[in-house]
Amino acid sequence: MSLKNTLNSRFKTAMQALNIPSECTPLLNISGKPQFGDYQANGAMGAAKYLKTNPRDLAQKILDQVDLSGIAEKTEIAGPGFINITLKNDYIANCLKDCLDKPTVQSNIVVVDYSAPNLAKEMHVGHLRSTIIGDAIARTLEYQGHQVIRQNHMGDWGTQFGMLIAELELQLSQGEQAELALSDLEVFYQQSKKHFDADPDFADTARAYVVKLQSGDANCLKLWQQFIDVSVAHNSEIYKQLNVGLTAEHIKPESAYNDDLQMIVEDLIQKQLAIESDGAKVVFLNELADKNGDPSPMIVQKSGGGFLYATTDLAALKYRADTLNVDRVLYFIDARQSLHMKQVFATSRKANYVSDSVSLEHHAFGTMMGSDGKPFKTRTGGTVKLADLLVEAVERAEKLVREKNSDLNEEEITTIARKVGIGAVKYADLSKTRTNDYIFDWNSMLSFEGNTAPYLQYAYTRIYSIFRKADIQLEDFSAKLIIAQTQEKQLALKLLQFNEVINQVAIDCYPHSLCNYLFELSSLFMTFYEHCPILKSDIAPEIEQSRLQLCAYSASILDKGLDLLGIETMEKM
Ligand code: ARG
Repeated sequence: MSLKNTLNSRFKTAMQALNIPSECTPLLNISGKPQFGDYQANGAMGAAKYLKTNPRDLAQKILDQVDLSGIAEKTEIAGPGFINITLKNDYIANCLKDCLDKPTVQSNIVVVDYSAPNLAKEMHVGHLRSTIIGDAIARTLEYQGHQVIRQNHMGDWGTQFGMLIAELELQLSQGEQAELALSDLEVFYQQSKKHFDADPDFADTARAYVVKLQSGDANCLKLWQQFIDVSVAHNSEIYKQLNVGLTAEHIKPESAYNDDLQMIVEDLIQKQLAIESDGAKVVFLNELADKNGDPSPMIVQKSGGGFLYATTDLAALKYRADTLNVDRVLYFIDARQSLHMKQVFATSRKANYVSDSVSLEHHAFGTMMGSDGKPFKTRTGGTVKLADLLVEAVERAEKLVREKNSDLNEEEITTIARKVGIGAVKYADLSKTRTNDYIFDWNSMLSFEGNTAPYLQYAYTRIYSIFRKADIQLEDFSAKLIIAQTQEKQLALKLLQFNEVINQVAIDCYPHSLCNYLFELSSLFMTFYEHCPILKSDIAPEIEQSRLQLCAYSASILDKGLDLLGIETMEKM
């Protein structure tokens, strides 16, 4: 049990014994300042209000009742009725032994829908946020013991593919190899668009191919598959570079639901949720009405018969509920699709595709901006390919690594540059409150100072080097903890909060709280390291051992935390 939960249950028991109703909770929190102790129980005020009694008196009664023997060194009532708790050093030391144990949670089946690029084009910076935030949350939930099902809802279907396969056929007929023709999807897309706009015959073929593709024409399907294979291969390469855990097995693209779409529309009509409007089939949602009271329309079939993005999302949700038996579905999609998600969620509930017990969550995020405060673009205003961005990140990191440490060999430099460069890009994103836009800035993300990946990776290498110097194996180091100095206590308390932070991230899906935690942990480690010498001749052996143990715990939490964010560590840099 986490420290917070232990305290919480002790206080609950005490409050129960005093006949305080259970809706009045102890409200336990980490103290903001050391003079307020280590933890605070702030529930006395609320309970006093409820019971119409004096809050300080009630706080005193709770304190008289609560059993904190062996846990608290000191307790006091402050202000209107805050209860400040200072923990016993021994207790902290004992708890810390369990701090690396996994949290025990009831395991759920969780679908994480993330990345999901459209395959018509190459992955660009617009896909970065969904990919890395979604991946961090998937890792976190997995660590907690949930059954995570990653779903890469790639856009592999739609009218553009008529144009693209017409272009592919044209280039193949001119003797081009598919791999080569599609080596740069951006260029390929532009070539096909140019043909489409300039050549009416080509445009007719493209339009005819859309229809043929949808009706299962073998030639069109073959071309389409060739296109998809190359595009997926591009993306897999990016995932690998990004250290993101998405592979082929997680791809469940839009086309996978093609056979279900007709049935969905018919079902919605039969349930009188969809009606015909100007030839199209539309679901009108009163619960999402605009300010004039007009219901929010969601088209599920166009007048020409074509299905839409929303239809596919309904089918996907039905599959996730029926076949995957999911408890929770998390969507990592940019904030501009909020209305779409609301419509899909509302409709799938009304149509009974998902029961009320299933939690449907859209975890939206803002846009990645350039230093000019406008959406991040190339110097000439084009979209930045993710592949290019990652190459640049590694190149910049390599320069830094070379400047910083001249003792590394070439192979080490290559590996470290990759981990630092990619880590910096990911961390810069993950450490910002995801719902806001954020400014992408190479210099600040690659800085060794402040809340950055290189700072945390460096802190980790510092710890590693202590063990290297002492010629001791860090991995399975184990010694008795003795907590005496304030800096030791502050560090230990921070370490103890790891699982509390993880629990929070698993609930609200804001990875920046984990980033903030790791940053604070590293800073506390640095302070501890400054004030509490370790490998010095005048340090008693049991103190040395205990401090090494604190180092080992810090390293392991840093490593674990960064791993949950999808960021790699190294032994030196
Ligand atoms: N392919 C979509 C896009 O690029 C994102 C898909 C997100 N997932 C979903 N189930 N709608 O905008």
